[in-house]
Amino acid sequence: MEQQTEKKKVVFSAIQPSGTITLGNYLGAIRNWTAMQNEFNCIYALADLHTITVRQETAQFRKNILEAYASILACGIDPEKSLFFIQSHVTTHAQLAWILNCYTQFGELSRMTQFKDKSARHADNVNAGLFTYPSLMAADILLYQADMVPVGADQKQHLELSRNISERFNGIYGNVFKVPEPYIPQNGARVMSLQDPTKKMSKSDTNVNACVSLMDAPDTIMKKFKRAVTDSEAVVRFGEGKDGINNLMGIYSAVTGKSLEQIENEFEGKGYGDFKTAVGEAVVEELRPVKERYDKYISDKSYMEECWKKSAEIAQKFSQRTLDKAMKKIGFVLK
Ligand code: TRP
Repeated sequence: MEQQTEKKKVVFSAIQPSGTITLGNYLGAIRNWTAMQNEFNCIYALADLHTITVRQETAQFRKNILEAYASILACGIDPEKSLFFIQSHVTTHAQLAWILNCYTQFGELSRMTQFKDKSARHADNVNAGLFTYPSLMAADILLYQADMVPVGADQKQHLELSRNISERFNGIYGNVFKVPEPYIPQNGARVMSLQDPTKKMSKSDTNVNACVSLMDAPDTIMKKFKRAVTDSEAVVRFGEGKDGINNLMGIYSAVTGKSLEQIENEFEGKGYGDFKTAVGEAVVEELRPVKERYDKYISDKSYMEECWKKSAEIAQKFSQRTLDKAMKKIGFVLK
């Protein structure tokens, strides 16, 4: 008899629709989401509820959600294999978040570095949602009994808190939630700003040349790479004090699959100009099919609607089971 295949592990991750998707989001996160689709049971969301912790302009927010959904589909998320829904379409997220808020301590939330950073940056709007954001994130993850959560370094503290909340709840009520593990992908590149390579590439950078958007035209991408900040050594090698070149090498390596050593050999005796052109061209080629698919999806809202409705329906059903279980344990009388 054929051996029973092991049940696929559940992967959950989400990204906020807070602007255009960047090359950093793509190489650091979304490309790994697509790579995980065959091996795991993948559940992905656009975390729109998280985004309103920072004030959004109505028309722009709506546009960002549609564009982010189209971009992520274009990166290769396949709604036949994975769930890819919009967080606010699945009502259990906000519901479980409220409950988890009551099992999360003020002190824990106060220690979150992202809260401290964001409340300093948006001092005029330090709202309660910004403070309790990690319990919404915990709800996202715990609702699906996720085994693994691919996250970047900036979300590790939030994931750690999700694990603590899960363990605390289970400690009181028995096994209700899986305790999720962080998943740090082997080939996840950390893409830095092209203008200040000591900082992460960010869509909110005031210098437009710092950040490459997936939707940038090829000549814009080339221009940004040609202007990338480097150093005065003029040798393509990976090393200390060479943040700009290290970043470009990391990007080139992530896109071409070449090792750092292979890249050093390839550009031996060549100048930074040649290297920057090669990196720019490799990125343009990598993004060309993504951009083509994006153009198709963004002009076909009914297709996107079909995808997100189907995913949300399944997500709602699955997550409702976890929510009901948690509520029952607490003592709520279910309807
Ligand atoms: N907070 C994450 C970010 O800003 C997005 C997010 C929301 C998330 N819910 C999540 C990531 C659950 C992983 C798991 O990047």
